[in-house]
Amino acid sequence: MPTNRQWRLAARPVGLPDKSIWQWTETAAIDPKEGEVQVRIHELSLDPAMRGWINEGKSYVPPVGIGEVMRALGLGEVAVSRHPNFAPGDWVTGIFGLQDYATAPAAGLNKIDLRVQPLEVWLHALGMTGMTAYFGFLDVCDPKPGETVVVSGAAGAVGSLVGQIAKIKGCRAIGIAGGKDKCSYLVSKLGFDAAIDYKTEDVRAALETHCPKGVDCYFDNVGGAILEAVMANLALHARISFCGAISQYNDPDGVTGPRNYRQLLVRRSRVQGFIVFDYAARYGEAVREMMGWLKSGQLKSRVDVRQGLENFPDVFLKLFSGENNGKLILKII
Ligand SMILES: NC(=O)c1ccc[n+]([C@@H]2O[C@H](COP(=O)([O-])OP(=O)(O)OC[C@H]3O[C@@H](n4cnc5c(N)ncnc54)[C@H](OP(=O)(O)O)[C@@H]3O)[C@@H](O)[C@H]2O)c1
Repeated sequence: MPTNRQWRLAARPVGLPDKSIWQWTETAAIDPKEGEVQVRIHELSLDPAMRGWINEGKSYVPPVGIGEVMRALGLGEVAVSRHPNFAPGDWVTGIFGLQDYATAPAAGLNKIDLRVQPLEVWLHALGMTGMTAYFGFLDVCDPKPGETVVVSGAAGAVGSLVGQIAKIKGCRAIGIAGGKDKCSYLVSKLGFDAAIDYKTEDVRAALETHCPKGVDCYFDNVGGAILEAVMANLALHARISFCGAISQYNDPDGVTGPRNYRQLLVRRSRVQGFIVFDYAARYGEAVREMMGWLKSGQLKSRVDVRQGLENFPDVFLKLFSGENNGKLILKII
């Protein structure tokens, strides 16, 4: 059996997850049992959600246990199959973990077709990230043509897709992102109507300028002060899709804001949280539509591919420093 390199959780983090919380191990890859498949992982999806999965306590999935291989979505090639629906050489995605080889029940695997779109797109627009943007925006915000849509984390994996889908649906799209380069990319390459650099601009004032009739839909990836600034600019009957709160994930003092939540009452608006996995039964519908938009060029998938399983602890932190440009992927082969 080949050697399987792995990152395991060694301790729970306080604040930013530094290197000390991870443990590197090397073991023999596990032979699949009847009904299982062994996958040689090629690429791993690095997601802000992984920060939540290593906290103690109740969430939408159980926390990764101390000593366990760190949970991660990935993409790879079937190496050994003991299930009739999978054969060596098939390409699949699944929750594989931070390792070279995953041995998993066939039921958790999705076959993908690399003739349709390249590897990385299956981890981005056609993967969990794309499903998050599609359902979290269209289902939760229910946008109408002509409405003003604001998205935070706009240059990131989910946010960049949300803004583009808003344009496809005939809305005005305003992105909020960190830095001049990310903001000009949103407008010049992805077709956003405007972008606000939260690192140098007064977000609340900039929203008043760009959204004179108020914000009809807000897709929130970051929470905190930016959420508060958007809540101060809501249109009547606004819809907020609560996707994530990355500005809060590493704050050991807990969540701050929004202090002006009363605006929801004044503007007769609603906030709805969602978890992408709840839409699993409808992924096919989203994949078909997103594939069409990718083919027609209406939707662009920007990926940021870094190399080497051994570099995971440093690469993961780029999600929190904002050094990633688009979907952050770790290529391990
Ligand atoms: N509800 C669900 O089912 C679901 C599923 C997937 C993802 N999510 C959530 O969606 C959000 C985006 O995830 P993603 O995969 O697309 O990651 P991403 O946006 O590609 O990467 C994270 C980005 O967050 C921004 N950021 C980091 N710290 C920040 C801070 N303190 N304030 C403001 N922005 C900050 C950075 O961009 P800047 O350079 O612009 O700061 C960074 O590039 C996350 O909150 C994630 O947890 C939710």
